[in-house]
Amino acid sequence: MLEEFDLSQMIEPLLDWFDQNKRQLPWREGISPYHTWVSEIMLQQTRVEAVKPYYARFLERLPEISDLAACPEDELLKLWEGLGYYSRVRNMQKAARQVMEEYGGELPRDVKALNALSGIGSYTAGAIASMAFGIPEPAVDGNAFRLIFRLSEDDSDIGKQKTKKKLEDALRLVMPNDRPGDFNQAIMDLGALVCLPSGQPLCDKCPLSFCCQARKDHLQEAFPVKAKAKPRKIEEMTVFLICRKDQVILKKRPNKGLLAGLYELPSLPGKLDLDQVREALFLDGYHALKIVPMGQAKHIFSHIEWHMTGYRVQIDELEEESGLTFVDIEEARNHFAIPTAFSYYWKML
Ligand code: ADE
Repeated sequence: MLEEFDLSQMIEPLLDWFDQNKRQLPWREGISPYHTWVSEIMLQQTRVEAVKPYYARFLERLPEISDLAACPEDELLKLWEGLGYYSRVRNMQKAARQVMEEYGGELPRDVKALNALSGIGSYTAGAIASMAFGIPEPAVDGNAFRLIFRLSEDDSDIGKQKTKKKLEDALRLVMPNDRPGDFNQAIMDLGALVCLPSGQPLCDKCPLSFCCQARKDHLQEAFPVKAKAKPRKIEEMTVFLICRKDQVILKKRPNKGLLAGLYELPSLPGKLDLDQVREALFLDGYHALKIVPMGQAKHIFSHIEWHMTGYRVQIDELEEESGLTFVDIEEARNHFAIPTAFSYYWKML
């Protein structure tokens, strides 16, 4: 258990290992609070390699917090297209506006104040505080849980808020005051490169194997412990790529809920076969010239799975156009953020 483990013994070997093995990452150069913030938000649900090009493009277009605060929403969402979990960037913009109004455009040098900004939780607040401001605050992510709960054979459920608090409190007590950002990032790098989540961790390469209880007991795979999540809800749907000449129909999603406010391909609930599609389109007033099946696709969100069946529909006219948006295909490609969930079909456009 963490309570019985002496975390202070990990500091020196961990930092020495980091000095020799740290990854060169774009957000580790030219550090600024804003850069750290952007990278940490992007990295929350997206892999390091996938984040790199987004990070560069985002900062090129929005080099200052004031630019983020002022960016039109459509453009902001387009910059985020493909990263998913769009509420992350919406919250970031909200926070940027707070920072402009309340802090004169500079992120506050204070963990509590950071934590109070939209979309910044204890992880992000700790990451910014430690990496950009040198404040000794932990940044507990999945890597930290895995590494430290293996070291200490702690079987607390890492999905629980109180487990996170327990680890944060324990780390805060031992963090080196002179290198808090390196300490947090050393844990991330060791977790990403050595103390691997699945398959065999590379214990022979680990600077902390000398004090790792899970390794001693050959129980690396048993830690950390996470209670099973509820199974995801499965939604069957039929998705349409409806084209008229060089235009395609897009629909704006409601402003609340999953993929709020983004544009999507029109769809109907259920898995419809060709006859059902023909009938449904006819009833909706479409005059379909051609309907071509595009196959099945699946998209997994955190709590829902979409199981999609797609059709490409060529139309020449519509009896009723209300509520539909025809967009030039080029314009749609360049300026509309289409959720990744639809990319299997969107790519066929
Ligand atoms: N994952 C999240 N933040 C990170 C960082 N600063 N360095 C490496 N991996 C990360």
